[in-house]
Amino acid sequence: MLMKKQLKPRIASLVLALSCGGASGLALADADPIKGQQTSAMCIACHQADGNGKSNAGAESWPRLAGLNAEYIEKQLRDFRGGLRQSATMMPFANMLTEQQIKNVSAYYAQLTPTHTEAVSLTDEQQALGKRLAVRGDWDRYIPACNSCHGPDAAGVGKSFPELAGQHSDYIRQQLHAWKNGSRSNDPNNLMLAVAKRMTEQDIDAVALWLAKQPIK
Ligand code: HEC
Ligand code: HEC
Repeated sequence: MLMKKQLKPRIASLVLALSCGGASGLALADADPIKGQQTSAMCIACHQADGNGKSNAGAESWPRLAGLNAEYIEKQLRDFRGGLRQSATMMPFANMLTEQQIKNVSAYYAQLTPTHTEAVSLTDEQQALGKRLAVRGDWDRYIPACNSCHGPDAAGVGKSFPELAGQHSDYIRQQLHAWKNGSRSNDPNNLMLAVAKRMTEQDIDAVALWLAKQPIK
């Protein structure tokens, strides 16, 4: 009698977990980058076959995913789904993925080799301003150095602070605007909003170009 009573709710929760596409309640398999490559067929039109994305001057740019931290990529895909990060372009693709596919495709992109695909040119003034903001910040205006969070050489730190060196300049610019206008609000403790809201257009241009030009570590 006792067994039967205990069994029922367990079966009920198993059925529930399965009907939710297996995402909740059931353990996921280890990330499989080979399966992730199959899933990436949906992504290459924009993020490109080598994962290095593309700048589309004047239009929405496609960020480089190659070499980014796998857990950072996973988080972004979940944030697009959940609307903390709004993108009419990315949301439908994020919505198509199961939790297992998110893990697989993120592991796949993390192990691709990042390269520069954008020819960046800066004025001397932009070079000086971009470097100053990235390396030292501007304490008179309460702007901390980008590298204090994003790591020496803006090479990224763990799963929380993404690599910025060698990312597309238009994309970096778009993200700084997204924090300012509220369409991206997925940063823990509003860390990036606090930075972006103090930046002028001139700052944003200079730092985006400077970071895009830095060597990828
Ligand atoms: C139609 C073009 C397009 C397709 C297809 C596409 N993406 Fe994107 N992706 C974008 C754009 C544009 C952005 C930048 C969105 C924004 O402004 O926030 C982006 C952003 C991302 C980001 C955030 C990167 C970062 O540095 O934070 C991830 C992760 C991502 N895409 C993964 C994928 C995956 C995985 C697929 C395939 C399942 C995919 N995308 C398919 C256009 C696309
Ligand atoms: C106090 C810590 C902190 C500082 C300082 C900081 N960032 Fe960030 N930044 C973050 C965090 C955290 C994220 C990831 C947010 C998330 O989880 O999506 C981020 C993400 C970004 C992204 C998105 C990258 C991508 O792949 O989508 C850009 C662009 C960016 N930061 C630019 C800058 C620039 C430029 C500066 C300096 C002017 C700067 N950040 C300073 C914490 C910081």
